[in-house]
Amino acid sequence: MTPGNYPRQRLRRMRAAEFSRRLMRETVLTPGDLIQPIFIKDARDTDISETIPVMPGIQRMDIKTCARECKKYAALGIPAVALFPVLSASAKSADAKESYNPDGLIQRAVAEIKTAAPDLGLITDVALDPYTADGQDGLTNARGEIMNDATVEVLVKQSLSHAAAGADIVAPSDMMDGRVGAIRDALEQHGHTNTKILAYSAKYASCFYAPFRQAVGSAAALRGDKRTYQMDPANAAEALREAAMDINEGADILMVKPGLPYVDILWRVKQEFQMPTFVYQVSGEYAMLASAARNGFVDERAAVLETLLAFKRAGADGILTYYAAQVAGWLGA
Ligand code: PBG
Repeated sequence: MTPGNYPRQRLRRMRAAEFSRRLMRETVLTPGDLIQPIFIKDARDTDISETIPVMPGIQRMDIKTCARECKKYAALGIPAVALFPVLSASAKSADAKESYNPDGLIQRAVAEIKTAAPDLGLITDVALDPYTADGQDGLTNARGEIMNDATVEVLVKQSLSHAAAGADIVAPSDMMDGRVGAIRDALEQHGHTNTKILAYSAKYASCFYAPFRQAVGSAAALRGDKRTYQMDPANAAEALREAAMDINEGADILMVKPGLPYVDILWRVKQEFQMPTFVYQVSGEYAMLASAARNGFVDERAAVLETLLAFKRAGADGILTYYAAQVAGWLGA
């Protein structure tokens, strides 16, 4: 061959063997990146089943089962879990007052899991949708409108009750304006100076939450949609404004949700603010992967790992995924 008739740079040289592929690998997924979301139910609510048909492989757990599973997650190297309550209809009300009951389901679960797995980080969801009769994340007035500031007052009480029970991170997922600042002030004033706030900064009004709403039982109750508070999927610049506000108000961690359809937002938020940034691979994303895998259309392990790697490549510091425990098992094996 005459000089010039060959490429001097052959990117395939480094791809040619596993050893050189490993040495040039830019992104590595570890169990330390993963957070397991958990659906908690009261053992006394025998009418609430454990199986969730729309999320095959995921179960609602009572507190005892959950505490036992959490020990396993910690042993697998998972740093934290995120708890979501499943309540019976009788615990739901227009004022959502069960949300800050010091002896409520989540508050009891936090205390018990802390005892069982003291080193596991506990993240609690701050929002009213499991507690309101209409399945909305906020309180509703007579005209059916979500009342922002009245909701924030309840979210503050809810956060304080979680912190008092021993939650490490409170995670407002409601998208009310001003809630991060109000929660931060209250935590400081009550001596919870180390309780972290994980702000669902860019939470989109997404169809991919549908299986979650089945799992927590808010789907049947839900009247209307959540587009007056969750973000328009068409918007990206607005996500940066949301994130900037949450930082100013005292957030420790930002989150983008859902995951894969919003991986551009994740990238931009991380690039712009360099804050600890999490992403939530939500229930609908789980359901798509799990059902495609169960049909034999994709290889579950390969497909899941590829999605999680995408989040890390885009800048995620932590990933909430219903696959967390399973993936930690795969990575450790
Ligand atoms: C509600 C909440 C939702 C999710 C987490 N917290 C659903 C919603 O906003 O309707 C969705 C999580 C998932 O789909 O996995 N505060």
